[in-house]
Amino acid sequence: MADTDDEHTSPQSPDNRAELERQAADKAQKDQTLAQSSEGQPVSPRPGATRVVRDRKGARRVIEVPSTGHSWDGIEEYDNPLPRWWLWTFYATIIWSVAYVIAYPAIPLLNGSTQGVLGQNYRSDVAAEIQRFKDANAPIQAKLVETPLEEIAADPELANYTANAGAAIFRTWCAQCHGSGAGGATGYPSLLDNDWLWGGSLEDIHTTVTHGIRDPQNDDTRYSEMPRFGTDEMLDNTQIRQVVNHVLALGGLPHDAALATEGEAVFADNCVSCHGEDGTGDRSQGAPDLTDAVWLYGSDPATITRIVHDGPFGVMPAWTGRLSEADIRAVAAYVHSLGGGE
Ligand code: HEC
Ligand code: HEC
Repeated sequence: MADTDDEHTSPQSPDNRAELERQAADKAQKDQTLAQSSEGQPVSPRPGATRVVRDRKGARRVIEVPSTGHSWDGIEEYDNPLPRWWLWTFYATIIWSVAYVIAYPAIPLLNGSTQGVLGQNYRSDVAAEIQRFKDANAPIQAKLVETPLEEIAADPELANYTANAGAAIFRTWCAQCHGSGAGGATGYPSLLDNDWLWGGSLEDIHTTVTHGIRDPQNDDTRYSEMPRFGTDEMLDNTQIRQVVNHVLALGGLPHDAALATEGEAVFADNCVSCHGEDGTGDRSQGAPDLTDAVWLYGSDPATITRIVHDGPFGVMPAWTGRLSEADIRAVAAYVHSLGGGE
């Protein structure tokens, strides 16, 4: 076609008109064939449009299936009835849905939803269930709060409760920082060993958990601040190199002996007030023992240099206000029982 390639956009074109008329004639003839047999009955235009059914007595009967008259690409649509079981199931689901909407909370509204005549409410079910467990635990929690800390482990009932509840609390609130097995990570102390920054008695652990460490929001928090010797220019780089080698020597690690000897004086002037004359630390200030094999931040020269230069500032949140006293006691007793408790 020269002018147009769409017959609908130019019905006046003589070519197109002839074509349209031919199509209309074809269609009329086809419709007639579909609609009429020689006896005037609707027929299926293709052989094989029959179906085998069984009547009530179980006898086979071949019936003719009427066509809907729809055909696409030579595929004919027959007017088969839907299977009866399918139809009744379908009706049953409709009835069920109406009954459900009436009986249960269903239709969302601006505030909440329709309530349903059965008064079912899953939220209050959950709240009631939680309350049931709280009530069940209330007596033992009261006993836990009343019992002096040092007597908890000796009471089998309390020891059993703190082992279970404490472990659950630990997994929920402490494992992110201290590890699920309480083994710690860089900057987060292991709670399994007997190397304690602030003390490993149940009393000490209880205080640490209650008030946290360097938590700015808790007035009774454990607090100390190692100076930032490099950042605040209290020591120059040479002195830092010397004292770092002295720390390596204290820890029994490879070091430069000449620098370490020079570092002794730097250590005596700047570090002993917290880490002690012999470097074994001071729990009242949370200052770590520098002579053992346990390192909070790392034992390589680069890490120790960074710690002395920038100053560490480990923060542990206070848990009072977030956990109940019973929960704090349970988790403290659990930590105490892990192996390092004193
Ligand atoms: C946000 C991280 C974080 C969470 C959560 C946390 N801690 Fe800590 N915790 C620390 C850090 C950091 C330190 C070491 C602080 C320092 O350098 O003095 C610490 C120290 C401690 C200590 C003192 C260890 C010692 O050697 O004296 C105890 C005990 C402790 N945590 C118990 C817990 C318990 C129990 C929980 C859960 C209720 C908990 N921590 C949750 C970060 C955390
Ligand atoms: C005011 C007290 C104080 C002084 C002074 C002090 N420190 Fe510390 N030091 C601490 C505390 C507290 C920590 C642990 C801090 C933390 O966990 O955030 C610490 C941690 C360290 C660590 C990390 C140990 C580890 O296990 O990873 C090193 C190394 C260290 N100090 C070396 C020094 C040296 C060297 C000096 C002297 C130049 C010094 N400190 C002076 C309080 C002090």
